[in-house]
Amino acid sequence: MLPPMPGLIERYRDHLPFEPGDPVVSLGEGSTPLVYAPRLSDRVGADVWLKIEGTNPTGSFKDRGMTCAVSAAVREGAEAVVCASTGNTAASAAAYAARAGLRGAVIVPEGKIATGKLAQALMHGARVIALRGNFDEALKLVRALAARHPVSLVNSVNEFRIQGQKTAAFELVEQLGGELDALCIPVGNAGNITAYWRGFNEAGHRPRMLGFQAAGAAPLVLGAPVANPETVASAIRIGNPARWEEAMDAMTSSGGAVNAVSDDQILDAYRFLAASEGVFCEPASAASVAGLLSHGSRGAARVVCVLTGHGLKDPQTALDHAGAVVPCDPELGAIERAVLR
Ligand code: F0G
Repeated sequence: MLPPMPGLIERYRDHLPFEPGDPVVSLGEGSTPLVYAPRLSDRVGADVWLKIEGTNPTGSFKDRGMTCAVSAAVREGAEAVVCASTGNTAASAAAYAARAGLRGAVIVPEGKIATGKLAQALMHGARVIALRGNFDEALKLVRALAARHPVSLVNSVNEFRIQGQKTAAFELVEQLGGELDALCIPVGNAGNITAYWRGFNEAGHRPRMLGFQAAGAAPLVLGAPVANPETVASAIRIGNPARWEEAMDAMTSSGGAVNAVSDDQILDAYRFLAASEGVFCEPASAASVAGLLSHGSRGAARVVCVLTGHGLKDPQTALDHAGAVVPCDPELGAIERAVLR
């Protein structure tokens, strides 16, 4: 029998706040593929790789942080984990809570999370609360809730989330032998860019951090919170990121930048990745590639775009923006016309 693929905590224990013997709640997260993107590289005039975080156990990068946050919650004796979420954190928290035997409660903006994520959170047995409000309001409420009750808050305001997510930077340094000039990454609540920057600093490699927000939800670009954020990329529909200062610090100290991409640019990149690179990510993830395509690589020769979540998370947006199916009668002639036309 092959030895099991170790999860992040076992792989990177030396860099994480867990002692041998501490409880570990893992679903085998991390060790995600880094895939070269030849057509994207041609368009950009640089070598571009895609870090496919959608291959994590629940289909997004959140699992890296969640293995740490939920393991720490078990160590602390928590009975329940809670989070506010645009969907992926909810799916991940629900799965790791189920794995740990903890109760999970997730607060999501009503009607604004992708179908796959909702199905995941419900299937894993979390209590799913649909808030008549947006993500920023949900996060504020859940922080107040966690301050009053013995529940563990597993949003990226939780330090263990950042610790786990920084391991993606370690993997990139290993996968590219340290030869990386720029990282393109979507920015929502700004935990992930904070985590990558932390990881790169610990690994001693400091690529330019190029963060991208959706134009309708771009507080870091505007320099002020957005009261009613709006974008097709529901995962990053956030108007007041919790890790604002740290994200800005990552971009400025690395010689990077934060820029906005329109929904049309996001959708173009989303379709291009699926149709020309064979990689299906969710719309928010495509913001990294949309940003690289519209703002250029800023002189970087070797670039990684982080694809944060799997395309199957959001089947409805895919169907809304893809070609139509071809109806066909059950006869050879009809099949010939349908297939070979
Ligand atoms: N991409 C995806 C697919 C996401 O789900 C998120 C955040 C981001 C990018 C942005 O990462 O917040 O660390 O800057 N999703 C959170 C959630 C907010 O609740 O699932 P960030």
